[in-house]
Amino acid sequence: MIDFWRSSVGKKNIVAVTGAILIGYLILHMLGNLNSAFGPGAQEPRVDWYAHWLRDFGEPLLPHGFVVWAVRVILLGAIVTHITGIVQLTKRNKAARPANFPARRIGRSVESIAMLGTGALLLAFIVFHILQFTTLSIHVTPVEHGEVYANLYWVFQKWFFLAIYLVALILLGSHLRHGIWSAFQTLGLDSPSRNAKLRHGATALTVVLVVGFAAVPVLFFTDVLDPPHTTALLTSLSGAFS
Ligand code: HEM
Repeated sequence: MIDFWRSSVGKKNIVAVTGAILIGYLILHMLGNLNSAFGPGAQEPRVDWYAHWLRDFGEPLLPHGFVVWAVRVILLGAIVTHITGIVQLTKRNKAARPANFPARRIGRSVESIAMLGTGALLLAFIVFHILQFTTLSIHVTPVEHGEVYANLYWVFQKWFFLAIYLVALILLGSHLRHGIWSAFQTLGLDSPSRNAKLRHGATALTVVLVVGFAAVPVLFFTDVLDPPHTTALLTSLSGAFS
């Protein structure tokens, strides 16, 4: 395994497989988020029920929150390995290039530079996003632990948060479309007869993810989804009248 990681082909394969793990997470995350589209519900919003269900999953056989933490560990491992592989491959490619060879001479390098740029910005977005919705450290609107629907509702009342998420999703779309296609090539799935289908497949999966993610902030911002009936709402109302 260590020899595989040391070789450039091995690194490329590991970058492709860790990318696939991250895409798997994104698909599940997007589907989970779409529970918000069911609105605040009569008793508990469906997205809150889903978030609690994830944390209770496997009890009493597994400890509370086991699945959530297992996914976090896998995600962190995949992100660190993905980035380390890319950084090492980029350094190797640079070292192998003749001195003074302009990177922009070859189209592939321009795409690689774009992948590095969108990747770095996505990493910054993920840190911001976790601080906003997991640790609830960034908030200019009311937030409550365990009240996912209310937190989403209040955050996406603000146009600047909507704008940040839409820009992040455009970056994600650009990164994914090229990344999925590169992964197909690295894993040897490409062939002249299949390439057109694979390219369309990469575009289709990217569009589904970007539109699926964008739907939730847009539905909240445009008030298609009703306000939550929760403590966060009471907090905000009491703030408005005090
Ligand atoms: C507009 C789209 C998105 C919305 C509305 C959204 C919403 C959320 C919410 C509410 C949480 C906290 C869940 C909880 O506490 O149960 C969360 C966590 C998270 N999201 Fe997103 N998300 C979006 C897009 C993304 C994207 C594009 C990525 C990755 C590139 C991402 C990665 C994560 C990660 C890594 C976590 C932490 C998971 C954890 O704490 O276990 N999200 N998201």
